Amino acid sequence: MRVVVERVSKVYGDRAGHAVRALDGIDLAVDTEEFVAVLGPSGCGKSTLLNLIAGLLTPTEGAIWLDGELPPGRAATAMVFQEFALFPWRTVQANVEFGLEEMGVSRDERARRARRFLDMTGLAGFETKYPHELSGGMRQRVGIARALAVEPPVLLMDEPFSALDAQTRQLMQEELLGIWERTRQTIVYVTHNIHEAVYMADRVVVLSRRPGRVLAEMKVELPRPRAEAMLGEPAFVHAVERIWHLIRDQAVQALRE
Ligand SMILES: Nc1ncnc2c1ncn2[C@@H]1O[C@H](COP(=O)(O)OP(=O)(O)OP(=O)(O)O)[C@@H](O)[C@H]1O
Ligand SMILES: [Mg+2]
Repeated sequence: MRVVVERVSKVYGDRAGHAVRALDGIDLAVDTEEFVAVLGPSGCGKSTLLNLIAGLLTPTEGAIWLDGELPPGRAATAMVFQEFALFPWRTVQANVEFGLEEMGVSRDERARRARRFLDMTGLAGFETKYPHELSGGMRQRVGIARALAVEPPVLLMDEPFSALDAQTRQLMQEELLGIWERTRQTIVYVTHNIHEAVYMADRVVVLSRRPGRVLAEMKVELPRPRAEAMLGEPAFVHAVERIWHLIRDQAVQALRE
């Protein structure tokens, strides 16, 4: 499914009545089956962008199209939220089944899919626990399993691996790439981690500091499937350096403000 973000701006009103321009004139097209990573300094509007694509927010200006349509419910997307956003009163299993319930999937099928993604995210054995009984990294994995279980045409991931330790993160990156090779979902993946963005994505989009604009886009010229050995290749190292320079300039300016 193709995602088109057309001249989108988002202005929030804060409690004092001041307007906060989070995004400014974003143009971005993500092709069917494409894996795009979005990088940018904190507060530049990355989560806002994903929420807009998910239909959880509406743009102040511009429009967002999914396969050329403006569907009201956005049933085509599933999101891994930055702050996990689990239901505290639901068990791990019931959290993962949530989206499937909404879709009217039968009980047996829900259980089957939940088991598959709970296994994949290393949560087998924790099905009957509640979110407060889990570590931060485990909660994050429940959020990932919940979104994956829906098998949406468009997967929106907001720093999905930020709470994981380095080893688990590496394994989950490989797991996600493996899933994506099979399902070929369209993925918009927000991260602060330049290496992760280059390692996983077809294309990296760098946003400016707030209000977020598209500062640069870079196609990642590494073959698929990606492998750890590529992390040392010149193409990888150069891509990381180029992006780091762009981001550093933005961060320096933001600090001086
Ligand atoms: N509901 C809201 N009401 C008012 N302002 C908001 C709201 N949500 C976000 N903002 C503001 O919009 C800007 C962009 O926020 P957003 O969460 O999209 O940034 P981000 O790029 O995801 O940051 P981070 O990397 O820290 O997660 C920030 O200045 C934030 O304070
Ligand atoms: Mg964010």
